Amino acid sequence: MTQQSIKRGGFSSSFGVLAATLGSAVGLGNIWKFPYLTGANGGAGFLLVYLLATLVIGLPVMIAEITMGRAAKANPITALQKLAVSKMPWWLIGVAGMAAAFLILSFYSEVVAWVFAYVFKAIGGSILSSDRQVTQAAFTSLIGDPLQSLLWQWSVLVFIGGILLMGVTKGIEGIAKKLMPILFLLLLMLCAVSLSLDKAADGLAFLFRPDFSKITAGVILTAMGLAFFKLSLGMGTMMTYGSYFRDDQNIPQTTLRVMAADLCVSMLAGIAIFPAVFTFGFAPAAGPALVFITIPAVFSQIPGGHLLMVAFFVLAAVAATGAMLSLMEVPVVILHERLGMSRAKATLLTIAGLMLLGSTCALTNNVLADFKLFGMNMFDLFDFVSSNVLLPLGGISLALFVGWTWGADKFTQALSNHGALGNQTTARVVFFLLRYVSPLLILLVMLKGLNLL
Ligand code: TRP
Repeated sequence: MTQQSIKRGGFSSSFGVLAATLGSAVGLGNIWKFPYLTGANGGAGFLLVYLLATLVIGLPVMIAEITMGRAAKANPITALQKLAVSKMPWWLIGVAGMAAAFLILSFYSEVVAWVFAYVFKAIGGSILSSDRQVTQAAFTSLIGDPLQSLLWQWSVLVFIGGILLMGVTKGIEGIAKKLMPILFLLLLMLCAVSLSLDKAADGLAFLFRPDFSKITAGVILTAMGLAFFKLSLGMGTMMTYGSYFRDDQNIPQTTLRVMAADLCVSMLAGIAIFPAVFTFGFAPAAGPALVFITIPAVFSQIPGGHLLMVAFFVLAAVAATGAMLSLMEVPVVILHERLGMSRAKATLLTIAGLMLLGSTCALTNNVLADFKLFGMNMFDLFDFVSSNVLLPLGGISLALFVGWTWGADKFTQALSNHGALGNQTTARVVFFLLRYVSPLLILLVMLKGLNLL
């Protein structure tokens, strides 16, 4: 089978495009990472830096990725080859993206594993206790057990792989269209409950009243890393989804909507979590374990808490599913289109690879607890290197590619649907940002945050 002869799937409707793209952006980034990073980095000040990074860096890079993907209608490696005019090996960005996908999936699938395990534990009710010691012990016993950690992770990989086997239109788009509305409904319900609690105002103040004394170069890098991670940027996910976009889709408008809705989900998750955390006297800076230890303890003190806790973890599982699909689709489509494997074979190979590499993260809190590189365990290392180094580097390379190689004319043509949209000014502004502002800004934040400047 030649590369050209492979029939490509695609998103079938405008709502499908929006649901799938938002499904990729919304994930554990909103419900797990955003709350704990905001909690650990001082609240509203961090939120403000994150907002700025999303607008100034995230938005143009996201538009760039989607536009490139749609113009090339191919996986990231082939897309870069097709669009590049020079002989420079720009396609290496696609290869780096695939490597980043494996690193991210390795730790991400483990957190998804905890979430899925918690859905069942929540239903059973065993983790519901007002005693922090008990909820802490429940979490520690899950992540401390190598067999449970591995089995849950591998089940998640098989589950997501199963959806991918249904294809782009039926699998990814079909599931996203069903899950996104459920997600918003659950989230709004949880916010309503949280806002009715005694100390809701303290939680909201923490989330919305900035204290700039906590902002350091490291915190700014973390915020930028979160912006990349949140919008699924810098490793080819959005390029891949862009390749499934319809030709008449308005890219800047879709991007803005996804960004706004994604921010909305993060804010709502913050509103659902922090008032509850403050009302029951928990520390907002509890770190990655925040939702797993705090949420059960909080809900045990609210009437109807058992059901609400189930709702919370189902919400997290729903969010995680769309994001996992988009992460895994990148290696799957690369293997499928580059090596001529069937989608089924490509999916199985991806799952197998992730079972191997991912197991280092599943075993981080037990068998491999003392194994450290650069002072970090595998889980933290994969997380740190992908968000704070690989994704920003990917973002810089893609911005430079559009700004200096692909060029203003082709970019504008592609972004305006060949003139049909008449959004020349938008295209010019985004192009200017990609050519001059984004690469420099990302580099600066990265070097400063890594203490290299
Ligand atoms: N954006 C998702 C989240 O917030 C995670 C994700 C999906 C992602 N695809 C990605 C992160 C690509 C980085 C790159 O949970």
